[in-house]
Amino acid sequence: MAKYEMSNYFNDIDKKGLKRTWHSILSKTLNETFESDIFIVDNFGELYEIGLEYVNKIDKKEMGKYYTPKDVSVLMSKWMINLKGEKICDVGCGCGNLILSYLECIGIDETIRLIDNGYLYLYDLDEIALSICKYSIAIKYGKKFLKKIKAKHCDFLNKDIKLPKNCKVISNPPYFKIKKYGENWEITKVINDSKELYSAFIEKIITQSVASVIITPYSFIGSDKFYSLRQIMNNYNGFIVSFDNVPGNIFNGRKHGIFNTNTGNSVRAAITVVINDDNIKGFRIGPLIRFKTEERNKILNNDFLVKLINDRYQVVDSHTKAFYKCHKDLLKILDCWEKNSDDKLGNIINSNIGEKIYLPTTCRYFTVGSKKNLKRIGKRVICVKDKEKYNYVYCMLNSTFAYWYWRLYDGGINCPLTIINSIPIFYNKLTNQQKMEINKIANEMQKNEDKYLVYKMNAGKSQENIKFPIEYRNRINKIFFNALGINESTDIFNKIHSSSLFSSKEFGDNE
Ligand SMILES: C[S@@+](CC[C@H](N)C(=O)[O-])C[C@H]1O[C@@H](n2cnc3c(N)ncnc32)[C@H](O)[C@@H]1O
Repeated sequence: MAKYEMSNYFNDIDKKGLKRTWHSILSKTLNETFESDIFIVDNFGELYEIGLEYVNKIDKKEMGKYYTPKDVSVLMSKWMINLKGEKICDVGCGCGNLILSYLECIGIDETIRLIDNGYLYLYDLDEIALSICKYSIAIKYGKKFLKKIKAKHCDFLNKDIKLPKNCKVISNPPYFKIKKYGENWEITKVINDSKELYSAFIEKIITQSVASVIITPYSFIGSDKFYSLRQIMNNYNGFIVSFDNVPGNIFNGRKHGIFNTNTGNSVRAAITVVINDDNIKGFRIGPLIRFKTEERNKILNNDFLVKLINDRYQVVDSHTKAFYKCHKDLLKILDCWEKNSDDKLGNIINSNIGEKIYLPTTCRYFTVGSKKNLKRIGKRVICVKDKEKYNYVYCMLNSTFAYWYWRLYDGGINCPLTIINSIPIFYNKLTNQQKMEINKIANEMQKNEDKYLVYKMNAGKSQENIKFPIEYRNRINKIFFNALGINESTDIFNKIHSSSLFSSKEFGDNE
């Protein structure tokens, strides 16, 4: 018998369409009448993607599909194993990256017990992907199990779809904006406020399961529109790890993914592990992890990641609406900063009255405030009314504090004004001597701004920015540490600017 090659695949798709092609591949593989070096269960998902692209050049982003790379699936599965819950569900299972990893992690005997008991549930809107997932499991663990796997071809948000009792869920939900509500959805406040499909999935999964491991974009951790989701999360507990997308990116791990483009990989991801231990409310939240591609193996390790998370369970309320992503050893400094602050930056700056400070909106490794009107597109102008406080604001913006605040509560592409406005300030804690030192540094920096100008091309236009020597930042940090009564060396702040958890060096451009 001739081996099945890619050319046969494309011919079949042309002749029979994608659905029938896959039906035939799956049933032949199950019955062992199919021979191919390419079509093996482990890469069905990728071959399906290739087929999808072949038929209609689907924009993956549009479909909200960011398939979970193998190493991330294993990481999530290892967390899942230890959670409570008798039945296992993969919501938005696609071709099965997550569930196949999970079953591998629990081993053959446990997998067979699970399926035989009718305890394995799969949900997906994509009928072909769901079949591929179901058949892949049956091909690996035995055809007799095909009928015992509970594969639900459905819109998971349909209110008639309910997760089974006492289940735990592993999921990588679709990511895209809700343009239109589904006909039979329960329109919750979370859906209404966020208009993001993934948050609707998180809400339904969390409220209907006893535990779960979910990978999603990280935006729900801090962004305003997910406040109602965080309020729901107040009633559960667990931990969240989140990953920056530069230099390394969580979704870069696939070797052959045809959708492995820059745009496809730009998501900053979070993995939420809902444990639901007794008598605990809230989530422990780790720092926004930046890693280099070559450090991926070290980072994607369960023990390593858990050790990075501080012990505080965060809950939100009308006063503290967002979760913050704080390094374990910086939590005390954050507390001290907030406790000693008597105002917010927003109360001493405005948009038009007073002396101006220019702020580039992008801030990958540090924030900048300048007296000079920078020649660039992405910039903000803020004004400080009170002359006496101008240099304090200038130094704050060029210190680690402002940058850190943005990393704690956001850390995306731009630094939004809402973040700048909410930076806690402690001008009144500065002694006269410290105020004089701040003035001295600020004057020196302002005089030297031209000396440290840097340029980067963006969309064909040169963007001006300033890269001050790190010594300035350290000097400002030192004065602020003293004013707040922090006895640590300011070196502890180096990690905030670093491109990697394993070094304290900054890396690359600021754009
Ligand atoms: C990000 S992909 C994840 C696929 C796979 N679980 C993985 O981790 O690689 C999201 C999956 O959700 C499915 N999906 C999209 N909208 C859905 C809905 N309303 N109900 C159920 N599944 C949906 C998509 O078909 C896709 O397979």
